[in-house]
Amino acid sequence: MTATTENPAGTGSGLGEIDRDAARIGVDDKAMINARADVNQLLPLKYTWAWDKYLAGCNNHWMPTEVAMQADIALWKSRDGLTEDERLMLKRNLGFFATAESLVANNIVLAVYRQLTNPECRQYLLRQAFEEAVHTHTFQYICESLGLDEGELFNMYREVPSITAKDAWALEYTRNLEDPGFRTGTPEADQAFLRDLVAFYVVFEGMWFYTGFAQILSLGRRNKMVGIAEQYQYILRDESIHLNFGIDVINQIKIENPHLWTPEFRAEVRQMLVEACELEVAYGRETMPRGVLGLNAQLCEQYMRFITDRRAEQIGLEPVFGETENPFPWMSEVMDLQKEKNFFETRVIEYQSGGGLDWD
Ligand SMILES: [Fe+2]
Ligand SMILES: [Fe+2]
Repeated sequence: MTATTENPAGTGSGLGEIDRDAARIGVDDKAMINARADVNQLLPLKYTWAWDKYLAGCNNHWMPTEVAMQADIALWKSRDGLTEDERLMLKRNLGFFATAESLVANNIVLAVYRQLTNPECRQYLLRQAFEEAVHTHTFQYICESLGLDEGELFNMYREVPSITAKDAWALEYTRNLEDPGFRTGTPEADQAFLRDLVAFYVVFEGMWFYTGFAQILSLGRRNKMVGIAEQYQYILRDESIHLNFGIDVINQIKIENPHLWTPEFRAEVRQMLVEACELEVAYGRETMPRGVLGLNAQLCEQYMRFITDRRAEQIGLEPVFGETENPFPWMSEVMDLQKEKNFFETRVIEYQSGGGLDWD
């Protein structure tokens, strides 16, 4: 074997030696993982769903600094505009997201990108990585606008036990892949990669972010912290594409590698969802020890069970809890996948015309 065939540009990183003699690639050469086809050639397109999400992400461009914060600043500084419970919920929510966005970004760039061996998905990951940077920027901007203690906010993931527990759980899965020697290509390694995708796309972005969205959007619906609520709605719009991308990636890997999706592995993934739900319930209790208007730890628990079942279904698993009632039906307005397209179109038009988001 020559050096060029041992590490051609088409395998893995895309940074190997150029294979001058290789045949041109066709769509059938492309694969989600362990592909031999050149990862530097976007065309011919195979995974149009990934390309479509890249375009949708670009159409949703926004920056946190374009959202006015005056009303939020006035309310935050007012003596009695917010209850102590609302302040605690808000701070812990911001504390969770402030570092969560960075953990998600690091997982994409340092763990996922290298293992996905087709340029369509990598194109989307590059867009997603930028969006995670915009989201981290949002928390910097909120921190600065409200004059929050930055040390307190950015250390919550170490200092608030229920946040630490969630982040530590997810980090176990990415740490596996971070090893420079990690490579997909065996069933064990391919399953380790699937576990990481479940931990970050399905659990982190698809479950844990949603309690956070419900908390802030609930304040927004009561006309409180409307700037942050508007920013969260833009983040939710981005995150719902991130989630759907992750689900499409997982399902496509399953289609191409059915031997990975064994009954034992399915049971393991279900157990991951159960653990993730429990961690979120504990977080709900620590964030809302007494509850706030229209929102308490018990309703959040029911909501998380409902979301867990939806996520299980989306990756082809039986419901975990059988929770059929969404306690926050107003959230489904913005997260119902059937309405996603219209929702995006409306928001994009509003965004492009400089309008704000409506609360009802
Ligand atoms: Fe994000
Ligand atoms: Fe995300």
